[in-house]
Amino acid sequence: MNKKYFIVTYGCQMNVHESEKIAGILHARGYTESLSEQDADIIVFNTCCIRENAENHAYGNIGALKKYKKSHPDRLIAVGGCMTQQPGAAEKLRRKFPFVDVIFGTHNLEDLGELLDRKANRRKSVVEIWEQEGKIREQDIAYRTSYPNAWVNIMYGCNNFCSYCIVPYVRGRERSRSPEAVVGEVNSLLDRGYKEITLLGQNVNSYGNDRGGEVSFPQLLHQICSRDEKFRLRFMTSNPKDFGVDLVEAIAAHPQICHLVHLPVQAGSDRILRQMNRKYTAEEYLKKIEMLRRRIPDCQVTTDIMVGFPTETEEDFQKTLELVKAADFTTAFTFVYSRRSGTVAAQMDGQIPEEVQKERIMRLVELVNAQTREKSVAYRGQTIEILCEDFDEKKNLYLGRDEYGRMGYFADRRNRIGEFVRIKIAETSGVSLMGTVEDTEEKEQG
Ligand code: 5AD
Ligand code: SF4
Repeated sequence: MNKKYFIVTYGCQMNVHESEKIAGILHARGYTESLSEQDADIIVFNTCCIRENAENHAYGNIGALKKYKKSHPDRLIAVGGCMTQQPGAAEKLRRKFPFVDVIFGTHNLEDLGELLDRKANRRKSVVEIWEQEGKIREQDIAYRTSYPNAWVNIMYGCNNFCSYCIVPYVRGRERSRSPEAVVGEVNSLLDRGYKEITLLGQNVNSYGNDRGGEVSFPQLLHQICSRDEKFRLRFMTSNPKDFGVDLVEAIAAHPQICHLVHLPVQAGSDRILRQMNRKYTAEEYLKKIEMLRRRIPDCQVTTDIMVGFPTETEEDFQKTLELVKAADFTTAFTFVYSRRSGTVAAQMDGQIPEEVQKERIMRLVELVNAQTREKSVAYRGQTIEILCEDFDEKKNLYLGRDEYGRMGYFADRRNRIGEFVRIKIAETSGVSLMGTVEDTEEKEQG
């Protein structure tokens, strides 16, 4: 009988894409996707440990499967991803949840199939975590979940060691894929009709440094965009310390590259930025986005911001609010600092009480939302181009994003998924836009 899998993903786009790789491995073993945990013959947890709440969710959800496993002992449970990669975490998981069949890490995801084979021949759980990253193993990603958008890793790991961040510890040092591998994957996706490619890396600006700098990130963009056809290219994440003129020129040179840059600032106080080991000041950050907007006037910027970092005072926090106003972000992902064991910041004196963190994040979110709403209102009456990516059954509307990442909804009798559609915005609500199709069927047929 047909075997089914269910993957539970926590965390960022990098993880969502890695879940596609896991799905590819399971497809190759004859599994198909299940829509519910209950019907699955294997459940895989792809975990994240960047903040404590993501980790707590994973622990809670894995623990909840204890009963399920008792009544269905033949069904498999595997746990992988960043959480398992922390020192001692795999052992803790095995002790706490002895019913888990396979535990794997970030560096040996490609071996999941082999680990499942090993498990088939024994009762005890299989635990395999590599302490060190190995060489990149190119894998054909046979299963993608987000047509017409596709993610492409350009590099793995991070060398920056921001003092709050666990990523360099669980994902290892920077390793760039070869330009041939990246360009080959992008070309094959475009050949298969994908319309939007997002290049992924923790710090895309340092792409190629570990390969002797033969091809830099801007050069990689030039190579990808030499293909003369309509598609959208995005990338994330850029680190402001390495964001420079070459990259701005590459964005300006190619119509395929979206005029939206995700540039995490984290904080507006120079003292806090220094403690975070971010290697730029608020002024330098603002100068960089000014340079970007001078060259590309319609270019928009999104960011990540953290509140409640150790020793953050009300005055420091005010500087974050000021920076948010000055930078005019299109939107911002906001986080409460989470103490991650093993990081430099976890050892710092002056950890901020939870009530203070909560009160600050509420003020920050309010400001960010007000700015985002203001930008939505400016869309009224405008015509924008959406890449249609899905159909919302509840709303009975198609949806997709514009170049700047704004979600737009529209009604149509035809299936428009995978097409660029021009819509005129009639209404806005919060962050989303509602429009009517401008390119009518008659026009298209004629
Ligand atoms: N606590 C809270 N947020 C964090 N981030 C990274 N580490 C932490 C942490 N310990 C946030 C940063 C980063 C985003 C991906 O997650 O803002 O840019
Ligand atoms: Fe973490 Fe900083 Fe690396 Fe981003 S650049 S993954 S925040 S260490």
